[in-house]
Amino acid sequence: MPVYSISHVENVRVCVVMVGLPARGKSLIAQKIVRYLSWLSINSKCFNVGNYRRQLAGTEDINAAFFDSNNAEGLKYRREAIDNAVTDMMKWFSDENGVVGILDATNSTRERRDRILKLCRENLIEPMFLESFCDDDELILQNILDVKTTSPDYVDKDNEFATQDFLQRIKFYEEIYETMDQATDSDLTFIKLVNVNSQIILNRIESYLESRIVYYVMNLHIKPRCIWLSRHGESEYNLTGQIGGDSNLSDRGMRYAKKLPDLVLKSLGEENKHTNLTVWTSTLKRTQQTASFLPYKKKLQWKALDELDAGECDGMTYEEIENKFPEDFKARDDDKYEYRYKGGESYRDIVIRLEPIIMELERQENILIITHQAVLRCLYAYFMNVPQEESPWMSIPLHTLIKLEPRAYSTLVSRIKADIPAVSTYKEKGTSQLGEASGPNISKSRDLIKDSDVV
Ligand code: ATP
Ligand code: F6P
Repeated sequence: MPVYSISHVENVRVCVVMVGLPARGKSLIAQKIVRYLSWLSINSKCFNVGNYRRQLAGTEDINAAFFDSNNAEGLKYRREAIDNAVTDMMKWFSDENGVVGILDATNSTRERRDRILKLCRENLIEPMFLESFCDDDELILQNILDVKTTSPDYVDKDNEFATQDFLQRIKFYEEIYETMDQATDSDLTFIKLVNVNSQIILNRIESYLESRIVYYVMNLHIKPRCIWLSRHGESEYNLTGQIGGDSNLSDRGMRYAKKLPDLVLKSLGEENKHTNLTVWTSTLKRTQQTASFLPYKKKLQWKALDELDAGECDGMTYEEIENKFPEDFKARDDDKYEYRYKGGESYRDIVIRLEPIIMELERQENILIITHQAVLRCLYAYFMNVPQEESPWMSIPLHTLIKLEPRAYSTLVSRIKADIPAVSTYKEKGTSQLGEASGPNISKSRDLIKDSDVV
C-alpha cells in the first residue's frame, strides 16, 4: 500500500509569505522549512526576492539608498523583482505540482501583502504569512555580522562599511514597515514570531499542512549547538553479514564503545571539554552497549531510533535474501527508498517515524545519537539535504563519529574515525556482497565535510 504524504490527503497548496525587516532570520527560517518539507516528500521551494533583485539590478551600485522608498529607480527594480518571483512561483505551482512555495522577501507593507494575497486567492493557493519580528538590537547586529557582511551585496566591501550600510538599509525599511496584528489582520492566516520564539502569535491556522509548518517553526531555536551521530559498534550480526536482529557487540564493537568517550572529547576540543551532552540510543542492545561508557548522565532510549524493520528477512544475509526472495531483492535495488520489506519497513517509513525525533532535535541543544545504518542515513539526509534517491545508498561506515554544527545557511560536518577495524556493511546496487562503496562516497562528496585524524 503506498504511503501518502499529508499534502496528498488534503490537496492544499500553500504560499508562505515571509514578513519582516531585514536581518530577522526570514531566509534561514524559509530554507529550513523547505528542507524539512522536502525530507517529508512535500514538494516545496523557496523564491528569494533578493536573488531576483540582484539579477535585475546587479550588485555594483547597491547601497542603502537603493532601498529608500523615495528612490524611484530602486522601487522600480524592487517591484519587478517581486513580480518575477511571484510569477515564477505561480508557474512552479501549476507546472511542477508545487505544494508549499515560500516567498522570501520583507513584504513589509500591507499594500504589498494585499497584492500577494489577491494573486494567491485567484490561483486557489492558501496564503500563510510568517512574520519574524525582532527588536533586540544586539541580536540584529549579531545577525548582520554573521550573515550580511558576507552577502553578495557586499562583495569587496569591508565589514565596517557593510554593517553601517545594512543598518541604514534597515532604517529605510522601518519607515514603511507595518507589522502584522490581530486587530488589522484578523482575516488572515498568520504566524508571528516575536524575538526569536519568546512569543508566538497564531491567527486562523486552518489546514493540517499549515499546522505542521507552525509546529516546526515553533520548535526552532538559534542557540549554537552540535549534534553527533554514530552507528553502534560492530555487532555479532555485522560479523556474519546478517541484517536486523538484536545481537551484542563484537569484541571490536566493544572496543569502539570504550573509545567513543575519547572521540567525543576530541571533537569538543580542549576549551569545550566540559560541555554536557544528552545521549539518545535506540531500544536495541547494540546501541545501548555502545553508549555504556559515555560519562553523560542523561541517556534516553527511543523506539523510533530502532533499525529499519526487515520483516520476514530479519536475521538473513543479503545473499540469503537474494536466493530466497529474488524478486524482492531486485525490487529493493530498483527503488530502495520506497521498497518495503514483507512485514517490515521502507526508508520512507523510517522518515515518517523519525519526524518526532527531528522536532525534538530542533528543540534540543547538544545531542549525541547512537543508532543504526538506515536510520542514520535518514537523519543525515535531513541535516544535509540529501535527496531520497541518494540517501539509502550513502556509505556511513562503522566506528566513525560524525559531528554536525548547524550554521546560518549550512551545516558543517566533521568525521572522526576510530582506529578500530570493522567489517563493511555496505551493499552496492546489483550485488549481495558486502564491501566498501566503489563509487564516490556520497556523504563525503558533499561540501563542508572535514575528516579529522584517526583516533
Ligand atoms: P534579509 O531581509 O536581508 O534577507 P533575513 O530576515 O532573511 O534578512 P537572514 O539572512 O535569514 O535574515 O538572517 C540570518 C540570521 O538571523 C542568522 O544569524 C540567524 O541566527 C538569525 N535568526 C534566525 N531566526 C531568527 C529569528 N526568529 N529572529 C531573529 N533572528 C533570527
Ligand atoms: O547491516 C546492518 C544494518 O543495520 C541492518 O540491520 C539493516 O537492515 C541494514 O543495515 C540497513 O541498510 P540497507 O538499507 O543498506 O540494507
